[in-house]
Order: sequence, then C-alpha cells, then structure tokens
Amino acid sequence: MNKVVLTGIKPTGIPHIGNYFGAIRPAIEMSNNPEYDGYFFIADYHALNFIKDPNELKELTKLVACTWLACGLDPKKVVFYRQSSVPEVTELNWILNNVTSKGLMNRAHAYKASVDRAISEGKDPDFYVNMGLYCYPILMAADILLYNTKLVPVGLDQKQHVEMARDIAKSFNKTFGYTFVVPSELISEDVAVVPGIDGSNKMSKSHGNVIPLFCSEEELKKYIMSIKTDSTPVGDPKSVECTLFKLYRLFATEQECMKMAAKYQAGIGWAEAKNELFIAANNYLKPMREKYNYYMSHYDEVLAILEAGEKKARKVAKETLQRARTAIGL
Ligand code: TRP
Repeated sequence: MNKVVLTGIKPTGIPHIGNYFGAIRPAIEMSNNPEYDGYFFIADYHALNFIKDPNELKELTKLVACTWLACGLDPKKVVFYRQSSVPEVTELNWILNNVTSKGLMNRAHAYKASVDRAISEGKDPDFYVNMGLYCYPILMAADILLYNTKLVPVGLDQKQHVEMARDIAKSFNKTFGYTFVVPSELISEDVAVVPGIDGSNKMSKSHGNVIPLFCSEEELKKYIMSIKTDSTPVGDPKSVECTLFKLYRLFATEQECMKMAAKYQAGIGWAEAKNELFIAANNYLKPMREKYNYYMSHYDEVLAILEAGEKKARKVAKETLQRARTAIGL
C-alpha cells in the first residue's frame, strides 16, 4: 500500500511568490511521486478561527483552490477537497478530545504566543484565546488521523502540531487498541528562501513585502520596479547576493543565471536588471496565471473537482471513523 501524505492549506490570504516557492511548488512536486497517496485540503474549519466574515472565507477558499490547481496540483493524482465537506472530521475531533490532556494543549506554541501577547499588553492572559485556537491541534490531529496519514509535509512552524497528532494517536491506540496510523512530520530542509521586495530576507504577508503570485503583468512589473536596490552606478560590478538576483534565480534556468551573473559583473544597470527579472518572472508565471484566471472565471469546474475529492475523502473518513467508534464502544 502507498504511504498517505496529507497536507492542509490554510486559506489565509492572497498567495504570493514566497508561498509558491516555499510551499506550493514543493508540495506539488511531492504529489507527483507515485509512491504516495496525496490528500490536499483547504483547512476552512481551521480558518474560522481567524476569518469572521463569510464572504471573505468563501473568497479566500476560491482563491486558494484556483491557485493550487493553476500551479499544477493534479486532482487525478491526489484527493483535493475542502475540510468542511467531510464533517466526519468533527466527530473524530470530539472523540480525540477525550484522549488529549489539557496540559498538551497548554504547551502549543500558537496558544502560548497569544497568551504572551495578552500579558505583555496588560490584558487577561486568555484575552485572545477562543476554544478554536486552544483546541486547534486536536482538529489538526483529526485531519491527519482520519485518512491513515503516514507523512505530513510541514514547515517548522507546524512541526509541534504534527508531534501532537502523533501523541494523540499513540494515546488512543494505547487505551483502545491499535486504531490509527501513527504519523510523522516531513520537514524539507532545502526549501527556497524568497527575499522580500523591501530587501529583507523573507517575503511574508506580515512584513508587507510580497509580490502576489497572480497579479496582472502590469502589476508584476510595478512590484519588480519597486524592489529596493543600492546606489551602485551603471558600469560598476554588482553582487549576485542582492534581492534582484536572488529572485531572478528562482525563475531562470541555471544557464540563464550564469549569463546574468556575468552581466552583473560587467556592471548592468539596476533598471535593466529589473527588466530582465520582470521578463523571466513573467515568462515563468504567465501560463499559470492564465490557468488561474480560467479557474477563477469557471469556478463551477473547480467546485466539481472539490466535490469529486470530497467523495473519495469521505469514503476513507467514514471507514476510519467507524473503526474509532467501534474501538471506544459507540
Ligand atoms: N495548521 C496548518 C497551517 O497553519 C494547516 C493545517 C490544518 C494542516 N490541518 C492540517 C497541515 C493537517 C497539515 C496537516 O498551515
């Protein structure tokens, strides 16, 4: 049997180039590995914790679904669905609540960060904490265990959550007999680091230094033209350690990079370097952008894909849930 690899995608914002190279592309590459059965879902139940506007939730779900399909996620190879269309996960969540100690949740980084923030602002420690946040890791464990997941590819920020899912699975299995596959996190060491357009070393929404993945050609150009450079004049050699070159490297082939490095050495002007970056980025993104625009204006097709995914996901979910129910005597 193939190993199940599962990942949840939080619909938090408009996907940017940092998300693409850091998370989307590596996950899609993994989904093409025939040794894995991939489950990819939009974590809309989790999103309820920070999105309180129904239209925003719908819109972000749409953006994210269209983005992943445009980037090449193949729904024939993986099960692609919305978390909330498999309500079995909430029943499993409830069952898992009862083998999860409060102490384990007390140690969760995201919860602790909220408490620290409230304390530093002189507020009640639980000021920012609703139960959705507090129990977030249990729902995530339910996501993972429901599909017999072996591997969960995540960034370092989610490592603790997968460890908790493992603890919860073990605790259940110990009490009620072997029921759940015990999952492990899969942390990729060599994910691309994408610098921000402000010259800082990480592109991130919270730093406000992103280039949206699927903005229009004109906007892409504007973003690239706004990238901070130093005052080295035309004709002087330029370092390939600058933001412009680091971004160029993501979009260009090895050979193109070598040629460009020679141009930098020969003193290319920043305006021309930016233009070269724009051309490379636009060539790379254009076919995906076209697919994205197609899906955005044919969302019914995307919904049909998600519904087909839901059917496959629910079949497995029902089996696992039944196993858990039987194990505990329901
Ligand atoms: N918590 C993850 C994030 O913040 C999203 C997520 C929800 C997830 N359920 C999951 C990731 C299960 C992996 C497995 O990005």
